[in-house]
Amino acid sequence: MLGKLVFLFEKNKKSFLYKDLNKNGVLDKYLEANNFKWKPGEIIVVPYYDFEKEHFDEGFGFVVVGAVKENFAPEDIRTLVAKAAKALKDKVETLEVERFSDSKDFIEPAFEGFYIGTYTFDKYKSQKESKNKLTHLDLIKPEQSKQVIFESPKIVKAVISGQNYTRDLVNTPPNEFIPESFIEEANKLKDNYGFELKVLKGEKLKEEGFIGIYSVGKGSKNPPAFIHLIYKGKNPKKKIALVGKGLTFDAGGLDIKPASYMRNMKLDKAGAASVLGIMKAIGEYKPEDLEVHAFIGAAENLPSASAYKPDDILRYKNGKTVEIDNTDAEGRLVLADCLIEASKVNPDLIINMATLTGACMVALGRSTFGVFSNDENISKEFIEVAKWCGEKAWLLPLDEDLKEELKSQVADLKNCGGRYGGAITAALFLKEFVDFEKVKYFIHLDIAGPAFFEKPFKYYSYGASGIPVRSVFRYIVEKFEKEEIEEYID
Ligand code: BES
Ligand code: MN
Ligand code: ZN
Repeated sequence: MLGKLVFLFEKNKKSFLYKDLNKNGVLDKYLEANNFKWKPGEIIVVPYYDFEKEHFDEGFGFVVVGAVKENFAPEDIRTLVAKAAKALKDKVETLEVERFSDSKDFIEPAFEGFYIGTYTFDKYKSQKESKNKLTHLDLIKPEQSKQVIFESPKIVKAVISGQNYTRDLVNTPPNEFIPESFIEEANKLKDNYGFELKVLKGEKLKEEGFIGIYSVGKGSKNPPAFIHLIYKGKNPKKKIALVGKGLTFDAGGLDIKPASYMRNMKLDKAGAASVLGIMKAIGEYKPEDLEVHAFIGAAENLPSASAYKPDDILRYKNGKTVEIDNTDAEGRLVLADCLIEASKVNPDLIINMATLTGACMVALGRSTFGVFSNDENISKEFIEVAKWCGEKAWLLPLDEDLKEELKSQVADLKNCGGRYGGAITAALFLKEFVDFEKVKYFIHLDIAGPAFFEKPFKYYSYGASGIPVRSVFRYIVEKFEKEEIEEYID
């Protein structure tokens, strides 16, 4: 069966296909009877009208009417297609979307919305809730019936396969996804896409001086791991390092979390899972002009007789010592090792992503992630791309005045500051482990809020969102390298 998405631009402006299906005003009447308000983003599902028998008949399929502004933003299209796909996913096999624009801003988000909106994670359900029959999206142009776009653009295929893969990893429960699982996933990507891979695990980490990952992970029977995955394009002009926090579970350690805060802490691997999702997208897309290094610190933060303790002092490979103030501020400790390693490859840009602080959620809410950077232009460009992608990003300051909060009486730093500006002090801590002699740009994304939705949000179902895979992938393949070349020509 077939579903069609057609558009109403404003009360008195109707798309071509809307008019075509609205013979005798049947659609108008249905919308009025069902109190359709034409609020941009609003949709209504209408059964096909059988003109011979003069009644609506679901047996023939469905028409979804979506309200949209004529000067739409990409996110408006993504949202409408996702909503239509969600509404029809157990009813029809194919969704036809009226293609009223041929721009990239229409076509790419339409396919993205389709694949994000139909994502389900029901591996652990014996009784599947919906059948998810819907597998095809056609972008049709009713005036020229032959011009159907039925295949998503290469970049969308890449980015969606990465994003939905990230969601699968994050959604996987912590009894089945342990630090070792990150090694297994990295190996799969290596085999599928020909990446290089270096792995350190357990006691080896201690020997090699990865003291943050080692210490955070030593309270668990599941050994921690450091992963370095490398993609090399044919003719790389820019080198990018991606760094991700991979806490497969964060109980807080000896500074144990209260029960209600511990719930859903399987999400604490979302940064690392996003890094792998972006690498999957890179493997699919194969940008010739990039070299991409992925660094993951994977561990499980548990209280136990072998757990690291408040008062411990860790000596990092870059010579800095860190006093443990709170074992629940573990993400930054793990990331510090990764940032030291990332600096060593001399990248033009490091993008760090982590479910780092509850404070970031206090500041920005559950659906926006925080952006920190040493460079104003870079962060501005990144946030613009994120906006195009429909991922909400907001700039927060790397305010050096707050560095005082991290002063220790006995070591160079302590791992957390006071209550105020918690997302900023965490970001300042990370910055201490980036070697700016070797690294030009640094971006840190605190994704604690939007990595995981505890109830359905927009076109996201319950659970992992795969944010910020779209933004980071598109930024590095579409913008970062190009922007730099333009600068150079000037
Ligand atoms: N993984 C948490 C941050 C978090 C909280 C992510 C809620 C997603 C949802 C992190 O490791 C943590 O525990 N942070 C502490 C830091 C504090 C001890 C300085 C926090 O935010 O409370
Ligand atoms: Mn924690
Ligand atoms: Zn954590």
